[in-house]
Amino acid sequence: MYSPEKTDSGARLTSGENRAAAIHLRHTRSHVGVNGRTALAAVTATLLVAIAIGQMRITVSPNVKSISSEWTDANPMLNMSSFVTTWAEPEAAETAKRNIFKNYIDHDMYPQAFAMESLMVQWLHHLWKGPKGVEPYGTATVGSSEACMLAGLAHKWNWRKNREAQGKDGSKPNMVTDGNVQIVWKKFLRDFDVEPRIVPLTPGNYRLTAEHLDKYVDENTIAVVAIAGQTFTGEDDDIQGIHDWLDDYEKRTGISTPMHIDGASE
Ligand SMILES: Cc1ncc(COP(=O)(O)O)c(C=O)c1O
Repeated sequence: MYSPEKTDSGARLTSGENRAAAIHLRHTRSHVGVNGRTALAAVTATLLVAIAIGQMRITVSPNVKSISSEWTDANPMLNMSSFVTTWAEPEAAETAKRNIFKNYIDHDMYPQAFAMESLMVQWLHHLWKGPKGVEPYGTATVGSSEACMLAGLAHKWNWRKNREAQGKDGSKPNMVTDGNVQIVWKKFLRDFDVEPRIVPLTPGNYRLTAEHLDKYVDENTIAVVAIAGQTFTGEDDDIQGIHDWLDDYEKRTGISTPMHIDGASE
Protein backbone atom coordinates (compact mmCIF):
# COMPACT_ATOMS: atom_id res chain seq x y z
CA MET A 1 0.00 0.00 0.00
CA TYR A 2 1.43 3.39 -0.96
CA SER A 3 2.14 5.73 1.95
CA PRO A 4 1.75 9.44 1.17
CA GLU A 5 3.96 10.28 4.14
CA LYS A 6 7.20 8.94 2.82
CA THR A 7 8.27 8.45 -0.77
CA ASP A 8 10.55 5.73 -2.06
CA SER A 9 13.48 8.16 -2.24
CA GLY A 10 13.21 9.23 1.37
CA ALA A 11 11.55 12.58 0.63
CA ARG A 12 8.88 13.49 3.17
CA LEU A 13 5.58 15.16 2.45
CA THR A 14 4.58 17.89 4.85
CA SER A 15 0.97 17.62 3.80
CA GLY A 16 -1.15 14.72 2.69
CA GLU A 17 -3.34 16.98 0.56
CA ASN A 18 -1.49 16.99 -2.72
CA ARG A 19 0.19 13.73 -3.51
CA ALA A 20 0.69 14.17 -7.18
CA ALA A 21 4.40 14.87 -6.84
CA ALA A 22 5.02 11.87 -4.60
CA ILE A 23 3.01 9.54 -6.78
CA HIS A 24 4.91 10.76 -9.81
CA LEU A 25 8.15 10.25 -7.93
CA ARG A 26 7.23 6.69 -7.17
CA HIS A 27 6.16 6.10 -10.73
CA THR A 28 9.43 7.35 -12.22
CA ARG A 29 11.45 5.26 -9.84
CA SER A 30 9.98 2.13 -11.30
CA HIS A 31 11.65 3.06 -14.60
CA VAL A 32 15.11 3.22 -13.17
CA GLY A 33 16.15 -0.16 -14.50
CA VAL A 34 15.15 0.84 -18.02
CA ASN A 35 16.71 4.25 -18.27
CA GLY A 36 18.49 5.57 -15.22
CA ARG A 37 19.39 8.95 -16.71
CA THR A 38 15.81 9.74 -17.72
CA ALA A 39 14.57 8.63 -14.34
CA LEU A 40 17.22 10.70 -12.56
CA ALA A 41 16.22 13.77 -14.52
CA ALA A 42 12.53 13.13 -13.90
CA VAL A 43 13.02 12.54 -10.19
CA THR A 44 15.18 15.65 -9.87
CA ALA A 45 12.59 17.73 -11.71
CA THR A 46 9.81 16.31 -9.57
CA LEU A 47 11.68 17.05 -6.36
CA LEU A 48 12.40 20.61 -7.43
CA VAL A 49 8.75 21.23 -8.29
CA ALA A 50 7.60 19.72 -5.01
CA ILE A 51 10.07 21.78 -3.00
CA ALA A 52 9.17 24.93 -4.92
CA ILE A 53 5.47 24.60 -4.15
CA GLY A 54 6.26 23.89 -0.51
CA GLN A 55 4.93 20.35 -0.38
CA MET A 56 8.07 18.51 0.57
CA ARG A 57 10.72 18.66 3.18
CA ILE A 58 13.81 16.93 1.84
CA THR A 59 16.15 14.89 3.95
CA VAL A 60 19.28 15.20 1.85
CA SER A 61 21.27 12.13 2.81
CA PRO A 62 18.79 9.40 1.76
CA ASN A 63 18.45 11.03 -1.67
CA VAL A 64 22.18 11.31 -2.13
CA LYS A 65 22.54 7.72 -1.01
CA SER A 66 19.97 6.49 -3.49
CA ILE A 67 21.56 8.47 -6.35
CA SER A 68 25.03 7.10 -5.66
CA SER A 69 24.11 3.52 -4.90
CA GLU A 70 20.86 2.57 -6.59
CA TRP A 71 21.30 3.74 -10.16
CA THR A 72 23.20 1.31 -12.29
CA ASP A 73 25.01 4.12 -14.13
CA ALA A 74 26.44 5.47 -10.88
CA ASN A 75 29.92 4.18 -11.72
CA PRO A 76 31.24 5.67 -14.99
CA MET A 77 34.24 3.31 -14.85
CA LEU A 78 31.86 0.46 -15.61
CA ASN A 79 30.57 2.14 -18.75
CA MET A 80 32.36 -0.02 -21.28
CA SER A 81 29.83 0.38 -24.07
CA SER A 82 30.78 3.70 -25.58
CA PHE A 83 34.49 4.37 -25.06
CA VAL A 84 33.60 7.14 -22.66
CA THR A 85 34.62 5.71 -19.33
CA THR A 86 35.55 8.77 -17.33
CA TRP A 87 37.96 9.14 -14.45
CA ALA A 88 40.00 11.91 -12.89
CA GLU A 89 43.04 12.00 -10.62
CA PRO A 90 41.97 12.60 -6.99
CA GLU A 91 43.78 15.97 -7.08
CA ALA A 92 41.74 17.00 -10.13
CA ALA A 93 38.51 15.85 -8.48
CA GLU A 94 39.43 17.81 -5.32
CA THR A 95 40.15 20.94 -7.36
CA ALA A 96 36.80 20.59 -9.11
CA LYS A 97 35.08 20.14 -5.76
CA ARG A 98 36.71 23.24 -4.28
CA ASN A 99 35.59 25.35 -7.23
CA ILE A 100 32.18 23.90 -7.93
CA PHE A 101 30.27 26.96 -6.77
CA LYS A 102 32.14 29.40 -9.00
CA ASN A 103 30.25 30.57 -12.04
CA TYR A 104 33.42 30.52 -14.11
CA ILE A 105 31.74 31.95 -17.21
CA ASP A 106 31.36 35.26 -15.37
CA HIS A 107 34.77 36.67 -16.30
CA ASP A 108 34.27 39.94 -14.38
CA MET A 109 33.63 38.05 -11.17
CA TYR A 110 36.34 35.41 -11.69
CA PRO A 111 39.16 37.03 -13.71
CA GLN A 112 41.75 34.52 -12.50
CA ALA A 113 39.69 31.60 -13.77
CA PHE A 114 39.51 33.39 -17.13
CA ALA A 115 43.29 33.96 -17.12
CA MET A 116 43.78 30.23 -16.46
CA GLU A 117 41.39 29.39 -19.32
CA SER A 118 43.41 31.59 -21.72
CA LEU A 119 46.61 29.92 -20.56
CA MET A 120 45.16 26.47 -21.22
CA VAL A 121 44.16 27.49 -24.75
CA GLN A 122 47.80 28.45 -25.33
CA TRP A 123 49.05 25.15 -23.91
CA LEU A 124 46.71 23.24 -26.22
CA HIS A 125 47.93 25.30 -29.16
CA HIS A 126 51.53 24.33 -28.39
CA LEU A 127 50.63 20.73 -27.64
CA TRP A 128 48.95 20.37 -31.04
CA LYS A 129 51.84 22.19 -32.75
CA GLY A 130 49.71 25.15 -33.88
CA PRO A 131 51.38 27.67 -36.19
CA LYS A 132 54.04 29.85 -34.57
CA GLY A 133 53.64 33.61 -34.28
CA VAL A 134 49.84 33.63 -34.08
CA GLU A 135 47.60 34.40 -31.13
CA PRO A 136 45.68 31.18 -30.35
CA TYR A 137 42.03 31.56 -29.48
CA GLY A 138 39.52 29.23 -27.88
CA THR A 139 37.19 28.83 -24.98
CA ALA A 140 36.40 26.46 -22.13
CA THR A 141 33.07 24.63 -22.38
CA VAL A 142 31.13 22.41 -20.01
CA GLY A 143 31.66 19.42 -22.30
CA SER A 144 32.41 18.35 -25.84
CA SER A 145 28.78 18.71 -26.90
CA GLU A 146 28.88 22.42 -26.20
CA ALA A 147 32.24 22.65 -27.97
CA CYS A 148 30.82 20.89 -31.06
CA MET A 149 27.73 23.11 -31.08
CA LEU A 150 29.82 26.30 -30.86
CA ALA A 151 32.22 25.07 -33.54
CA GLY A 152 29.33 24.12 -35.83
CA LEU A 153 27.83 27.58 -35.43
CA ALA A 154 31.19 29.22 -36.16
CA HIS A 155 31.44 27.17 -39.39
CA LYS A 156 27.90 28.14 -40.33
CA TRP A 157 28.50 31.87 -39.78
CA ASN A 158 31.88 31.88 -41.56
CA TRP A 159 30.34 30.11 -44.53
CA ARG A 160 27.36 32.52 -44.65
CA LYS A 161 29.63 35.57 -44.38
CA ASN A 162 31.76 34.32 -47.29
CA ARG A 163 28.70 33.56 -49.40
CA GLU A 164 27.20 36.99 -48.75
CA ALA A 165 30.54 38.69 -49.53
CA GLN A 166 30.40 36.95 -52.92
CA GLY A 167 26.75 37.97 -53.45
CA LYS A 168 25.68 34.30 -53.28
CA ASP A 169 22.79 32.52 -51.56
CA GLY A 170 23.63 31.82 -47.91
CA SER A 171 20.40 30.07 -46.94
CA LYS A 172 21.08 26.39 -47.66
CA PRO A 173 24.01 25.23 -45.53
CA ASN A 174 24.92 21.57 -45.32
CA MET A 175 27.49 19.63 -43.33
CA VAL A 176 29.22 16.40 -44.38
CA THR A 177 30.10 13.76 -41.86
CA ASP A 178 29.85 10.00 -41.42
CA GLY A 179 27.47 7.46 -39.95
CA ASN A 180 29.70 6.94 -36.91
CA VAL A 181 29.38 10.56 -35.89
CA GLN A 182 28.74 11.33 -32.23
CA ILE A 183 25.09 12.15 -31.59
CA VAL A 184 25.84 15.79 -30.75
CA TRP A 185 26.44 16.53 -34.44
CA LYS A 186 23.04 15.18 -35.40
CA LYS A 187 21.54 17.42 -32.72
CA PHE A 188 23.52 20.38 -34.07
CA LEU A 189 22.28 19.73 -37.62
CA ARG A 190 18.68 19.47 -36.50
CA ASP A 191 18.60 22.32 -33.98
CA PHE A 192 20.61 24.80 -36.04
CA ASP A 193 18.95 24.04 -39.35
CA VAL A 194 21.86 22.65 -41.35
CA GLU A 195 21.19 19.93 -43.94
CA PRO A 196 22.77 16.64 -42.82
CA ARG A 197 24.88 14.86 -45.42
CA ILE A 198 25.84 11.65 -43.69
CA VAL A 199 28.13 9.29 -45.58
CA PRO A 200 26.85 5.80 -44.69
CA LEU A 201 29.11 3.22 -43.09
CA THR A 202 29.72 0.06 -45.06
CA PRO A 203 30.45 -3.45 -43.79
CA GLY A 204 34.16 -3.62 -42.97
CA ASN A 205 34.65 0.16 -43.11
CA TYR A 206 33.45 2.18 -40.15
CA ARG A 207 35.43 5.37 -40.87
CA LEU A 208 34.92 8.46 -42.99
CA THR A 209 37.33 8.39 -45.91
CA ALA A 210 37.74 10.60 -48.97
CA GLU A 211 36.24 7.92 -51.20
CA HIS A 212 32.71 9.29 -51.64
CA LEU A 213 33.23 12.94 -50.78
CA ASP A 214 32.66 14.13 -54.36
CA LYS A 215 29.03 13.03 -54.03
CA TYR A 216 28.48 14.93 -50.78
CA VAL A 217 30.59 18.11 -50.75
CA ASP A 218 29.50 21.21 -52.66
CA GLU A 219 29.58 25.01 -52.42
CA ASN A 220 27.04 24.93 -49.56
CA THR A 221 29.13 22.64 -47.34
CA ILE A 222 30.02 24.57 -44.19
CA ALA A 223 32.51 21.88 -43.04
CA VAL A 224 33.45 18.22 -43.27
CA VAL A 225 33.50 16.77 -39.77
CA ALA A 226 36.00 13.96 -39.15
CA ILE A 227 36.36 12.16 -35.85
CA ALA A 228 39.56 11.29 -34.00
CA GLY A 229 38.53 8.47 -31.69
CA GLN A 230 35.00 7.55 -32.63
CA THR A 231 32.46 6.25 -30.16
CA PHE A 232 31.74 2.86 -31.77
CA THR A 233 35.18 1.42 -32.51
CA GLY A 234 37.65 4.00 -31.18
CA GLU A 235 39.13 4.44 -34.69
CA ASP A 236 40.20 7.71 -36.32
CA ASP A 237 38.61 8.78 -39.60
CA ASP A 238 41.03 9.13 -42.51
CA ILE A 239 41.95 12.67 -41.53
CA GLN A 240 44.97 13.04 -43.82
CA GLY A 241 43.07 11.60 -46.81
CA ILE A 242 40.12 13.95 -46.25
CA HIS A 243 42.46 16.91 -45.81
CA ASP A 244 44.24 16.12 -49.11
CA TRP A 245 40.94 15.63 -50.92
CA LEU A 246 39.68 19.03 -49.70
CA ASP A 247 42.92 20.71 -50.87
CA ASP A 248 42.52 19.11 -54.26
CA TYR A 249 38.84 20.09 -54.40
CA GLU A 250 39.83 23.70 -53.72
CA LYS A 251 42.38 23.57 -56.54
CA ARG A 252 39.75 22.21 -58.95
CA THR A 253 36.81 24.43 -57.98
CA GLY A 254 38.17 27.42 -56.03
CA ILE A 255 35.90 26.46 -53.12
CA SER A 256 37.65 26.33 -49.75
CA THR A 257 35.85 23.96 -47.38
CA PRO A 258 37.09 23.59 -43.81
CA MET A 259 37.59 20.27 -42.05
CA HIS A 260 36.61 20.07 -38.43
CA ILE A 261 38.27 17.35 -36.35
CA ASP A 262 36.18 16.23 -33.41
CA GLY A 263 38.78 14.83 -31.03
CA ALA A 264 36.54 14.65 -27.99
CA SER A 265 37.34 11.05 -27.14
CA GLU A 266 41.11 11.18 -27.61
C1 LIG B 1 33.78 12.21 -30.60
C2 LIG B 1 32.87 12.82 -29.57
N1 LIG B 1 32.31 14.03 -29.80
C3 LIG B 1 31.50 14.62 -28.90
C4 LIG B 1 31.18 14.01 -27.71
C5 LIG B 1 30.25 14.70 -26.74
O1 LIG B 1 30.91 14.93 -25.55
P1 LIG B 1 30.18 15.25 -24.17
O2 LIG B 1 29.47 14.00 -23.79
O3 LIG B 1 31.31 15.60 -23.26
O4 LIG B 1 29.25 16.40 -24.36
C6 LIG B 1 31.75 12.77 -27.41
C7 LIG B 1 31.44 12.07 -26.16
O5 LIG B 1 31.69 10.93 -26.00
C8 LIG B 1 32.60 12.14 -28.37
O6 LIG B 1 33.15 10.94 -28.15
